[in-house]
Amino acid sequence: MIPYAPLATDIFDGHDDGDSTWCSSDDGVSLDSSPSDDETELTVDDTAPEEDGLFIPALPIPADLADDLTNDGTSDASYEDWSSFSQSVYEDELSHGRRYHGFRKGRYPLPNDRQEQQREETNHAMMMELSDGHLFYSDIGQSPTNILDVGTGIGSWAIDVAEQYPEATVVGTDLSAIQPRWLPVNVRMYVDDCEEPDWLHGEEYDLVHFRGMAGILKDLDSVLQTAYRFVARAGGASWHAQGPTKLTTCRRTKNGGWVEFQEIIPQIECDDSSMRPDDPLRIFYDAATQGLRTFGCDPLRPARLEEALEHAGYTNIRCVTKKIPISTWARGKRLKTLGLFMKTVMLDSLDALAAKPLAALGVSPSDRRELTRHVRRSLDDNTVHRYVNCVFCYGQKREQDGAFADLD
Ligand SMILES: C[S@@+](CC[C@H](N)C(=O)[O-])C[C@H]1O[C@@H](n2cnc3c(N)ncnc32)[C@H](O)[C@@H]1O
Repeated sequence: MIPYAPLATDIFDGHDDGDSTWCSSDDGVSLDSSPSDDETELTVDDTAPEEDGLFIPALPIPADLADDLTNDGTSDASYEDWSSFSQSVYEDELSHGRRYHGFRKGRYPLPNDRQEQQREETNHAMMMELSDGHLFYSDIGQSPTNILDVGTGIGSWAIDVAEQYPEATVVGTDLSAIQPRWLPVNVRMYVDDCEEPDWLHGEEYDLVHFRGMAGILKDLDSVLQTAYRFVARAGGASWHAQGPTKLTTCRRTKNGGWVEFQEIIPQIECDDSSMRPDDPLRIFYDAATQGLRTFGCDPLRPARLEEALEHAGYTNIRCVTKKIPISTWARGKRLKTLGLFMKTVMLDSLDALAAKPLAALGVSPSDRRELTRHVRRSLDDNTVHRYVNCVFCYGQKREQDGAFADLD
C-alpha cells in the first residue's frame, strides 16, 4: 500500500475544535479540506506507456443483543475462542465456485473470499491515491472520539483511521467476518446488518463512513435515517448546570457529526469517440448493474447521493465527483497509477460480477466465461479512453437536532 503522511493536521489546518460555534450552512464546510475536482479533464497520453500494538479479534454482536442469530455451527476455526457468541455468522455460503457471507445469507450478492478481499485491498490503495491520502473529507476536527465504518469489508479504511486517531474508538461493521484477526487496540469489528433499524455497536459518532455501499443497500434512505440517529449531536456533552433544575450555560465541545460516502459509479464513460457502442466493458457493466438490481441493489444510486442526504435532513452537504481512468491511457504518472489500479480492481471483480448477478439474468456459465474473456482482453486496449466517476459526498447533522434545541 502507498504510504501517506498523517492527515489530521494537513486536512483540517486552522480549524478550532474547541468551544467555537460550528458554522452555519452559509459558512459551509472548510474548503481547505474539501476534495478538488482536478480530474474533470482527462488528457490522453500520446507518448509511450510507462509503468507498490495490542490487538483484538473481530466479534459478532453479542448474542444477548442479537436475538435473531441462531447457534448452528461455524466454518472458521480461528474464531472458536469467541464461540460463546452465535456461530452462524461464520457459516459461509459456497456458490459459483466462490464464497459468500453466511450471516443474513443471500443479502449481498458479491463474494467475501480471498479474491474479493484482494480486490478490496487494491481498491483501498486506489481510493487513497484518488483522494491524495485523505481518508475522509468531513470536517470532524482533530479530536474525534467515535468513528464508524459501515460495511467495512476487510477493514483497511477503519484500521488506517484508527491509526491516525489513536484516541478515538473506531467501529467497523459488516455482514462478513473477514477482517484481520489482529487489529489496533482502538478498533472494534462487529458482524452486523446496517439495514436493521437499530445499531447496537455504539452511538454519538463523529463520523459514519460508507465506501462502496450506496449502490448495494436495499434501502439507502432508511440507512441514512438510522445513521442520522447515531451521528453525534452538536454540543451535547458539556452542559453546565446552575441551580437544581435549570440549565443556564453551556460549552460546546463537539460539532454535529458527519456522514460520508465514497462511491464509484459503475457506469463506463468516455468523453471522446474512442469507445464503440458495443464496447465489451460497457456491455458487461450494464449487464452486471441489471443483475445486481435483481438483488434489490441500485448500483447507479451514488449519482443521486446529494438528494438522498438532503432528504435525510443533513446540512453542509458537499459532493465532488472525480474521474478515474480505466487502464493507463491517460497522461501523467498519477492518472496512470489510478488507471492501473482501476484496471486491476475491475479484473479482480469480473468473475464475482459474472457469478450471482449475471446468473440471475439467466446468462449461462459458458456465456459468462466468454463475456469475461472479452472484457479481460478489452481492458488491455489503451486506445479506448474509458473512465468511471467516483463521488465523495458528505453532510452534517443539523444543529437544531442537538441539545441546544432544549435550552430555555
Ligand atoms: C463493496 S464492499 C466495500 C468494503 C469496504 N467498505 C471498502 O471500501 O473496502 C461492500 C461491503 O459491504 C458489506 N455489506 C453489504 N451489505 C451490508 C449490510 N446490509 N450491512 C453491513 N454490511 C454490508 C459487504 O459484506 C461488503 O464487505
